[in-house]
Amino acid sequence: MIIQALDLGKVYQKGKNSIEVIKEFNHVFESGKMYLLKGASGKGKTTLLSILGLLDKPTSGKLLLNGKEIDFTKPGVLCDIRKAEYSFVFQDYALFENLSVYENLRLVYEDTDEKLDEKRIDDLLQKMNLLHRKYHRTAELSGGEKQRVAFARALLKDAEVFIFDEPISNVDEGNAQIIFDIMKVLKTTRMVMVTCHTSVFDNICDEIVCL
Ligand SMILES: Nc1ncnc2c1ncn2[C@@H]1O[C@H](COP(=O)(O)OP(=O)(O)O)[C@@H](O)[C@H]1O
Ligand SMILES: [Mg+2]
Repeated sequence: MIIQALDLGKVYQKGKNSIEVIKEFNHVFESGKMYLLKGASGKGKTTLLSILGLLDKPTSGKLLLNGKEIDFTKPGVLCDIRKAEYSFVFQDYALFENLSVYENLRLVYEDTDEKLDEKRIDDLLQKMNLLHRKYHRTAELSGGEKQRVAFARALLKDAEVFIFDEPISNVDEGNAQIIFDIMKVLKTTRMVMVTCHTSVFDNICDEIVCL
């Protein structure tokens, strides 16, 4: 997969107030690499990931996927591409708080042709030190545990592009190392985009894109 951002811009308009968050952003992203989108809080990392992930539309510029321009006026098409190609960890995790960890993970298999793989779920939970939490309500978990559930959920999907928005902001050092190791393997065959406002990802990413 190749994703090309051409002069991307994003202006948020609220009444008379407008804020230009992304300005003439240009970059080429390829499979087989891990990209760090780095910048202070409020610099537009989440906004940019939302556009690159086809969750939000730019106010100027173009986005090309494998050379084909994305038509942001067709939500159905955007949704199909996202379903087929993308997997996300959102900054606020976006888990179903009233469902158990297991139920959250199971949902990945709904709406796909893939068969529920219990062993894969258990192996992943084991790896992420979460197996003892499998049947607990997500609302009862700590922030770091929820973030690891969100990461495990993202990995269950066989996507081409993985978008991780601040994926270790609440995770302890030991578990962060586990996440780094998984990401290093993942990026050898897939495209990985990660945001972070600190330098912890600097050494494991192939390219640093400063916002
Ligand atoms: N939906 C929105 N409407 C208006 N302003 C927004 C919206 N989303 C984000 N912003 C603003 O855009 C800026 C960048 O936000 P964001 O992309 O979340 O930055 P980051 O992820 O780097 O912290 C912030 O000033 C934020 O308040
Ligand atoms: Mg953000």
